Amino acid sequence: MNLWRRLSGRRRTVALAGASALVAGGLVTLPVTAAHAATQCDVAYTTNDWQGGFTANITIRNIGDPLNGWTLGFTFPDANQRVVQGWSARYTQSGRNVTAQNESYNGTLATGASTSIGFNGSWSGSNPRPTSFTINGVTCNGGTPPTTTPPTTPPPTTPPPTTPPPTTPPPTTPPPGGPRVDNPYLNARGYVNPEWKARAESVSGGSRVSNTPTGVWIDRIAAINGTPDSQSNGPMGVRDHLDEALRQGAQYIQFVIYNLPGRDCAALASNGELGPTELPRYRTQYIDPIAAIQGDAKYRNLRIINIIEIDSLPNIVTNVSGRAGATAMCDTVKANGAYVQGVGYAIGKLGAIPNVYNYIDAGHHGWIGWDDNFGPTAAILREAAGSSGGSPANVHGFIVNTANYSALKEPYFTVNDRVNGQDVRQSKWIDWNRYVDELGFAQAFRQELVRRGFDSNIGMLIDTSRNGWGGTARPTGPGPQTSVDTYVDGGRVDRRIHAGNWCNQSGAGLGERPRANPEPGIDAYVWIKPPGESDGSSREIPNNDGKGFDRMCDPTYTGNARNGNSLSGALPNAPISGAWFSAQFTELMRNAYPPLS
Ligand code: BGC
Repeated sequence: MNLWRRLSGRRRTVALAGASALVAGGLVTLPVTAAHAATQCDVAYTTNDWQGGFTANITIRNIGDPLNGWTLGFTFPDANQRVVQGWSARYTQSGRNVTAQNESYNGTLATGASTSIGFNGSWSGSNPRPTSFTINGVTCNGGTPPTTTPPTTPPPTTPPPTTPPPTTPPPTTPPPGGPRVDNPYLNARGYVNPEWKARAESVSGGSRVSNTPTGVWIDRIAAINGTPDSQSNGPMGVRDHLDEALRQGAQYIQFVIYNLPGRDCAALASNGELGPTELPRYRTQYIDPIAAIQGDAKYRNLRIINIIEIDSLPNIVTNVSGRAGATAMCDTVKANGAYVQGVGYAIGKLGAIPNVYNYIDAGHHGWIGWDDNFGPTAAILREAAGSSGGSPANVHGFIVNTANYSALKEPYFTVNDRVNGQDVRQSKWIDWNRYVDELGFAQAFRQELVRRGFDSNIGMLIDTSRNGWGGTARPTGPGPQTSVDTYVDGGRVDRRIHAGNWCNQSGAGLGERPRANPEPGIDAYVWIKPPGESDGSSREIPNNDGKGFDRMCDPTYTGNARNGNSLSGALPNAPISGAWFSAQFTELMRNAYPPLS
């Protein structure tokens, strides 16, 4: 999974707009209550500052009545602060007062919906953040509940005599099962896969995390009905999981759609059952039956989240002819359209179900974060979303870092740092990447996707199942400023030998526990790769699951061009991908960050 797949060599081209915007800036979240009938919003205003300039990202979340057209207003605290160029809204500035009016495509904000806008600005002296905001001319109260004019509550409607009193009124979002909500994770309880739970509890200490929602991988046709004889799935099929989700009273369930023709075209450990020309079989024997089950009216009140085809589209950007990582299989599935059309078909078919939420896989920063890969990957995601019956409207968002180990946040350096006059992007570890962690990458990539035609309300997911990097090897401060390499290597929490290493990484820990709305633009931190399930075997193991042997899973392998000819960093004695690897699970718990209590 998640090979480091990019051209080798250094890139010096100009940064894309919005790159790394949110990594370093401060965050102010103001729950804003307007003294106005049911007008309520949250405004998050973050900046990334440099000498004389800054990028501001603003997320407006409507937690009041639906808005049809909005104007945001705020006042810069300093007279020298200026909006230079904005996006996703029309900006005007008069003196220190700024207004941002919606564009035609983001003026409607349903209850619970949010939209992200931003601008590049300039400053001199200091760059303090505005402390209060207005929406549609109504002064918001900057986080303090209104003292003089309490919000007017609409007159109570008399319930029909037979209606029981509501038991769980969702305060900010429509009830599950209705029209899609902006963020399916918000205030919702996730499904716990009993098969993973049992595996986790078979290891000492596992019960500390075994009630965590994890992805249910449908990694072959047989997994739709359940596969008692496979090493990477238990006997439960899609319907069994959905029925169990109802029994648990869960509100969302996460499936991984993972069976494209010629799957995992740049690696061997997760090759699948379908050959590169088997797109018709993918459609009729894989996607159609899944759609038939997910569309059953019995499940209408569940938010069914589909994670679509890990690693696929990025592979046909970075691992095709003309790129250093090219493979014959990636060339084939690019040329015959298997990935683009397969993803388009999957999102169209599954997205036609009103309670399904599709999130397409978008790689991770250590793969897509270079200029050569960033824009082209967004472009191919957009192309796929419009092919074979799909449309961008079938895409609720994107996921990054699925089954990978890239750190969520690098707390001790940013991509803009300099050491002895040298740009840290020159360090071996960063190697001219524009991003150093998943949060910065996800937020910037989200903007790029919106720029390329996806809805401005899309949300990102970050798989934090195994990117914790805690334990005794975790640095506690920046590295020494002897050189860019000592500085970055001494301070980085991601302790991998090389950011291109992806298989059963030694030293990794469980990452952030799943939660909704952790940062602007991010719908949730999720655990899609079930921790403790192997990424691939450390030596050749014959199996009936179609799994190959990839030397990136062999701890003695000294690497290739894709990982800078470094050791693989993989744990020894690993079983095939998807099979339970209890020694890894023990280590992941030991190195969890945040730590387990
Ligand atoms: C494997 C799948 C497995 C999944 C989750 C993938 O690498 O190929 O078979 O279900 O990981 O562990």
